[in-house]
Amino acid sequence: MKKRKVSVLGSTGSIGRQTLDVLSAFKEDFEVVGLAAGSNVQLLIEQIKEHKPRFVSVKDTELAQELKSTLSDHSIEIFCNDVGLEFISSSACDIVVNGLVGSMGLKPTISALSHGKRVAFANKETLVVAGGLIKNLLKRNKGEIIPLDSEHVAIHQCISGARESEIKRIILTASGGPFRTWKEQDIQKATKEEALKHPTWVMGPKITIDSATLMNKGLEIIEAMVLFELPVGKIDVFIHPQSIVHSAVEFVDGNIIAQLGATDMRLPVQYSLFYPQRRELPFNLFCDLLSVGKLEFEAPDFNKFPCLKLAYHAAKEGKSYPIVLNAANEIAVDMFLKEEIKFGDIPKIISSTMENHKPSEPSSLDEITELDARIRREVSERAKTSKI
Ligand SMILES: NC(=O)c1ccc[n+]([C@@H]2O[C@H](COP(=O)([O-])OP(=O)(O)OC[C@H]3O[C@@H](n4cnc5c(N)ncnc54)[C@H](OP(=O)(O)O)[C@@H]3O)[C@@H](O)[C@H]2O)c1
Repeated sequence: MKKRKVSVLGSTGSIGRQTLDVLSAFKEDFEVVGLAAGSNVQLLIEQIKEHKPRFVSVKDTELAQELKSTLSDHSIEIFCNDVGLEFISSSACDIVVNGLVGSMGLKPTISALSHGKRVAFANKETLVVAGGLIKNLLKRNKGEIIPLDSEHVAIHQCISGARESEIKRIILTASGGPFRTWKEQDIQKATKEEALKHPTWVMGPKITIDSATLMNKGLEIIEAMVLFELPVGKIDVFIHPQSIVHSAVEFVDGNIIAQLGATDMRLPVQYSLFYPQRRELPFNLFCDLLSVGKLEFEAPDFNKFPCLKLAYHAAKEGKSYPIVLNAANEIAVDMFLKEEIKFGDIPKIISSTMENHKPSEPSSLDEITELDARIRREVSERAKTSKI
């Protein structure tokens, strides 16, 4: 069979590195044609040596110059910033893996879909801020999205073409993060080191903090609404500390179909790249249920984790609220990672931003990016003057 050409956006990140692991194991099936990273030029150079892409992109012109002066292979075309991301997404490839973090993944997603690509999709923030826009592109038969987020890969497998009327609800599982068993007042004061200690997954810093606040699950609710065209009333969250059941679908006849597997992102990466085929695993990622022993489920505590409540609110209200939720969260998480605010300030910032927001219905890319930028500016300014 002809090799499929793949571009990886965010190749130096957690998703990107695991995607390249899978691609290295399946060199007969895939050829890497594009790599896009931010500022980790050192790792990008190693990836270029191993995968020999035709196109690479980095965050800015300075880094592009640095890369150019280091690379001996002058046939590689080097790009930077948004232009580079959009070029790599629309270049001569069949599959674009979107492992970018935050809403910066939006424009390259539009670019990839407009050029009819398969997008293997980890970058949930894009679907949160522009779900309607992306759904319209897909309805016009522009490209396809195959989920890469483990919960949505689980639902994709369980839902198996069922109509909305046949689905009672989907159950998104969450590990509960590092603070599942902590008291509410202690969570408020949690340090960066404590918040970055995820109990079951090793991921990039932003999603790790989102998992600690449960905002990650909130973003996934909106992601699931877009991907599976379901109303928010049909999406429930269960805390499942073992992270073995990756999610489930409950049907109207009482049957529940769940997907189980090891906690390793190379499983969903492989699924997303090969779908609808299944291929034998080249890694030992089989899940030994006997050694797991027990599977537990609990309801989420909305008082301890107000970010989940805020995300449900944004999902129910719709309009511009998901954009506001996401922008305020991205800024707040960034400030927490820079140790400028406390852990307990993250939901406060998001909540006050949503309360002050007058909803609108941005539908074009320009309207969405303009609102996103305005909310980011407002949140940063308010935080600087301590009006959180
Ligand atoms: N990690 C997981 O297991 C996991 C699971 C499910 C879903 N997701 C989702 O996948 C996405 C990526 O998560 P992650 O954990 O892989 O994040 P990450 O480790 O922080 O990686 C982010 C990637 O984006 C790149 N990047 C940052 N700024 C950039 C810019 N201006 N231009 C181009 N590239 C830029 C980074 O490059 P540099 O490092 O070179 O700066 C890095 O390659 C998120 O939406 C997350 O929610 C992740």
